Amino acid sequence: MNNIAVFASGTGTNFKAIFRNIQAGTIPAQICCFITNRPQAGALAFAQEHHIPSYVISPAEFESEEEFGDALLRILRKHDTNWIVLAGFLKKIPDNVVEAFPNRILNIHPALLPAFGGKGMYGMHVHRAVFRSGARVSGATIHLVNQEYDAGPIVMQQAVDIADCRSPEEIAARVLEVEHQLYSRALQKVLTTPFRVEGRRVIFQEP
Ligand code: GAR
Repeated sequence: MNNIAVFASGTGTNFKAIFRNIQAGTIPAQICCFITNRPQAGALAFAQEHHIPSYVISPAEFESEEEFGDALLRILRKHDTNWIVLAGFLKKIPDNVVEAFPNRILNIHPALLPAFGGKGMYGMHVHRAVFRSGARVSGATIHLVNQEYDAGPIVMQQAVDIADCRSPEEIAARVLEVEHQLYSRALQKVLTTPFRVEGRRVIFQEP
């Protein structure tokens, strides 16, 4: 069985969509634990309501990134985690965690990477930058996590027409709807189709 640890800092609508698809049997996995850095995160309440072992842990509690990573690794190992799914987790994943889960950490980004990514580009910051840019298309990206912000190999993307959007909020709502579908599709794909990574490319071994 694929044991998935979900990390989220916010409302967790992506987490909820994935949870429902696991329950529906579309994704062959179980959520073994939930980790957040924010005790007030809506995603935490949801995890607890569904009896998912949940942890609140923040880098601020530790003297170094490495110690934060060690604490995360202890939790992840305790639950026999083999995949990590970042669903709006707004803290950097420590290098020792990335090294322990090579090409086994998925992240979602609310734009078409490599555009509108990098440090500080998350949530509404992304949609405001897209709006200001005048781009007529945005979208969602699911990628594997490496040590560089938003630069890991891309698993799946979907474009969203935003030509008629009048505010960053309108863009966010339209992209979020797509995110909810795309994240589950990408997760299902990486769990069921062998793949290899060449540079920044993900190559699926199709039957
Ligand atoms: C999502 O839009 C996700 O793409 C974004 O945070 C939001 C979380 O929403 N992630 C990033 O910006 C990461 N760089 P949710 O809590 O409703 O799933």
